[in-house]
Amino acid sequence: MTVVHITGARPNFPKAAPVLAALARLGVEQRLVHTGQHYDDRMSEIFFQELDLPRPDVNLGVGSGSHASQTAAVMVALEKLFTGEPPELVVVYGDVNSTVAAALVCAKIGVPLAHVEAGLRSFDPTMPEEVNRKVTDALSELAFVTSPEAIGHLAREGVPDDRIHLVGNPMIDTLLTHLDRFEPGPAQEAHGLTGRYAVATLHRPGNVDSDAQARTLVQAMHKCADLMPILVPLHPRGRTRLLELGFADHPDIRVVDPLGYVEFMSLVRGAEAVLTDSGGVQEETTVLGVPCLTLRPSTERPATITHGTNRLVRADTLPAELAQIADRGRPSSWPVPPLWDGQAGPRIAAIVSSWLTDRSAPASVAGAADTPG
Ligand code: UD1
Ligand code: UDP
Repeated sequence: MTVVHITGARPNFPKAAPVLAALARLGVEQRLVHTGQHYDDRMSEIFFQELDLPRPDVNLGVGSGSHASQTAAVMVALEKLFTGEPPELVVVYGDVNSTVAAALVCAKIGVPLAHVEAGLRSFDPTMPEEVNRKVTDALSELAFVTSPEAIGHLAREGVPDDRIHLVGNPMIDTLLTHLDRFEPGPAQEAHGLTGRYAVATLHRPGNVDSDAQARTLVQAMHKCADLMPILVPLHPRGRTRLLELGFADHPDIRVVDPLGYVEFMSLVRGAEAVLTDSGGVQEETTVLGVPCLTLRPSTERPATITHGTNRLVRADTLPAELAQIADRGRPSSWPVPPLWDGQAGPRIAAIVSSWLTDRSAPASVAGAADTPG
């Protein structure tokens, strides 16, 4: 019985690592597919080195493209891969194009699907991820949710109760597993950061795909950099546009390449604030108690606001919000959402393992009944 995990983009790797590790401890046979959606060493390879992820058994090498061409390339390659030897179960992560592509292939060739991080909804139909989430959830036999409100979202979309499992957050398993490695001091020194500073990440199409929006953002970030230096490990999407618009021209905007997980989390851990449009970073700052200003009109992760240190902001309100954080300082204590406790991987593995056992049971009973005598 083989479980196949589909990964491809940066946020998939820290989510998949604890699930693979927990299933391995239960002796479940598994394979890891990398679609190749992200391919730069700093968007992919470095996570395999740092997160104890097994090497992918297969890399589909699909690379970049429009939504349709990238999704289609993953579908064609996966269909071919699964046709000779269909897996018992396919596990997909999050909301990227590789996720929905795998879900569609599985639905059409009759392979059951498990979705890790199911039921998140921003209710913003313009986000490509929202489409990917809804389609993937509609096609999943096992929906693993990180937070209680996701149960309601799935129920309202007609997903039966017995498919939905509240298991906690595997991204946070990874964070807690590696917490002792997050040392702000050496990372700050390496980047010449001596006092208070912020970390920023930007890659949402809504922020970086148009000149008008990107220009507004650059102006806001420059005002923020008047308050404290900002280290920006810049995602490849929008890099050219932001730099052409003068993003790095402020002396206290430090643009660097995407960072490895441990270095990135070390810098986040020591930051006065994080400015971001990332999904995962909203969750990580929630657990680390680092104030997070999210440059988006909505979030599919409301627990980071109700239980965490996150606030949704616009470019025009960003500098004032950062100034307030600078006045207040970091919180001395903070709540963490329920079940974000480092045990999501083992919970998922236990459910997958018993699902596999239940599935094989009727066949062996039938087999026993057929035995002569
Ligand atoms: C993807 C996900 C997004 C996720 C983000 C995490 C989709 C629809 N979007 O967005 O949900 O938040 O990953 O990082 O799946 N590029 C490189 N090197 C790489 C990868 C990409 O240079 O290794 C460049 C290419 O120019 C590419 C662009 O980045 O066209 C966008 O990459 P893509 O994977 O299509 O979307 P992301 O913006 O990375
Ligand atoms: N991350 C990293 N280095 C960076 C930026 C991000 O290691 O320079 C990690 C971080 O753990 C984050 C994850 O990559 O949660 C996914 O990030 P991204 O913002 O690309 O994806 P999203 O969560 O928005 O889909």
